Formats: sequence, structure tokens, C-alpha cells
Amino acid sequence: MRTKRTSLVHLLYFSRLNLAADAPTRARQIGDITRQAQKKNEFAVITSFLIIEGNFAVQVLEGERQSVHEAFQRIAGDQRHRDVQIVEWREIAKREFFTSFTTASRTPATEAHFNKAALLPMLQRGTPKGSSIHALAMALQAESVSKQGIDHLFV
Ligand SMILES: Cc1cc2nc3c(=O)[nH]c(=O)nc-3n(C[C@H](O)[C@H](O)[C@H](O)COP(=O)(O)O)c2cc1C
Repeated sequence: MRTKRTSLVHLLYFSRLNLAADAPTRARQIGDITRQAQKKNEFAVITSFLIIEGNFAVQVLEGERQSVHEAFQRIAGDQRHRDVQIVEWREIAKREFFTSFTTASRTPATEAHFNKAALLPMLQRGTPKGSSIHALAMALQAESVSKQGIDHLFV
């Protein structure tokens, strides 16, 4: 029997952000993270989705096992957040996220999805469910794709 040489995994984690309270500095800091993450993830063939809810970051990383492991080591050591905790880490059959790095937070357009997922109380208790994170990230991705008017690419 042939052994599998590579395996696709996803990793879900959450953390507490150490970002500035004022909106312009915070936006710049998120811009910096986005630029670094996009570049590294493209190189490592990682797809990901970052949700920012209040002062929490929640991210899904997908890719080859070793690449995801290495990315997570970098991310976990980053001083821009703390209390980084893995929620779920497992093999997956296929990728579900389209870009190397997309981030979403509460806006009038995404509010309903955030309210439905009700992640904040789970994050505050320190026990977010993998299935809730995954469902919210998928809903936010669908929302951002339809906003760009490219639904027809994914039917
Ligand atoms: C909330 C958050 C999410 C991040 N997501 C990623 C990511 O998906 N991929 C990545 O390579 N770096 C990500 N980073 C940045 C890494 O922590 C790190 O700064 C970057 O990979 C550069 O690593 P280096 O300093 O070892 O070159 C993230 C940082 C934060 C705070």
C-alpha cells in the first residue's frame, strides 16, 4: 500500500489581542499583520481566515501539516497577542478557505453572522467550540465573496 507523503490539516486557535485602543493605530497594526501573513502564507501554501471579535483573535489555518505547524510556531510567539490556545487541530479532506489571509470583524454587514455565532461569551469563558468558529468563518467568507460580486465563480 502506498503511504501518504503529505497530509492536509486545519488548526483553529484563539488569543487575546495586544493592539492599540485607538482606531487608526489599530487599523495600521492589523494592516501590518495582514501584509506579513499574506506573504508568508502564500509562500507556505497556507489558506487562512482571521476573525476579530472584541479583543479576541480567532483564526483558521489550513495547509500541509508541517507548514501549518511552522506558521503556528511563529504566530504563537508573536507579542501582538497573548494566551494563544489551540481549539482544534486535525486532518481535513479538502481546503475550505480561498485566500492566504482574509480578516473580518464586526461591521453592519457582518453583525448578523457574529450575533448568530455568539462567540464572545465562549471566548470570555475560554471555551469556544471549533464548530462555532468554523461556521462563523465560512459564513463571513461567503459574505465577503458575495460583497465582491464573484458568487458565480463558486457555484
Ligand atoms: C492575530 C495574528 C495572526 C497572524 N496570522 C499569521 C498567519 O496566518 N501567517 C503568518 O505567517 N503569520 C501570521 N501572523 C504574524 C506572525 O505572528 C509573524 O509575525 C510573521 O509570520 C513574521 O514572522 P517572522 O518574524 O518570524 O518573520 C499573525 C500574527 C497575529 C498577531
